[in-house]
Amino acid sequence: MDITEVILHQHAEQRRMFAMLDEVDRLDTATLQPLWRRLEILLETHAAAEEKFLYPLLPKVGAGHADADAADEEVQDAVKDHNEIRAAIGKVGRHQVGSTAWWDAVTETRVANSDHMAEEERQDLADFRRHTDLQTRHEIAVEFVRFESEKAAEGVPPTDKDPDEYVEERTWTGAKAKGSPHRGPHDVGGFQRTYLGP
Ligand SMILES: [Fe+2]
Ligand SMILES: [Fe+2]
Repeated sequence: MDITEVILHQHAEQRRMFAMLDEVDRLDTATLQPLWRRLEILLETHAAAEEKFLYPLLPKVGAGHADADAADEEVQDAVKDHNEIRAAIGKVGRHQVGSTAWWDAVTETRVANSDHMAEEERQDLADFRRHTDLQTRHEIAVEFVRFESEKAAEGVPPTDKDPDEYVEERTWTGAKAKGSPHRGPHDVGGFQRTYLGP
């Protein structure tokens, strides 16, 4: 595992989650709220893990890369960017989900995060790749993902299901034409699914 690859992968996930919000009806608050919450947790745990495990080492090993003159400058920029992203996330939380002000704050977060990721990738991660060996990057990655996993969402409590009861309790009532006027909230892929339990 290489911390620079882990971070790149998570940046892609952050971009993808902002793109998911594009796909949702702008007034569908029941979907927007959990999608945003998941993205917010990802952004917060990611930045905290970088500040805990990546950036303390960069001034010791880095030399400044691309348009950064020095590693200290890279770290100062990153910490400042993280604060700006947190401030924008805070604005999102102060507005009603799905409102114009809420969407404006989501866009502000997206802009701040996009700018930061681009700079982090071309300066900080490149500097790290050039001046640390794979073993170091592996060890940081292990600490990084352990911390993130500890701090991430509490998750869904594990609940075993009886396979037979599961099949009996969930009824597929047959195909329905896409776009049918009777299409309800549980119609998925042209089928209606009846949920009878968690
Ligand atoms: Fe960052
Ligand atoms: Fe990052």
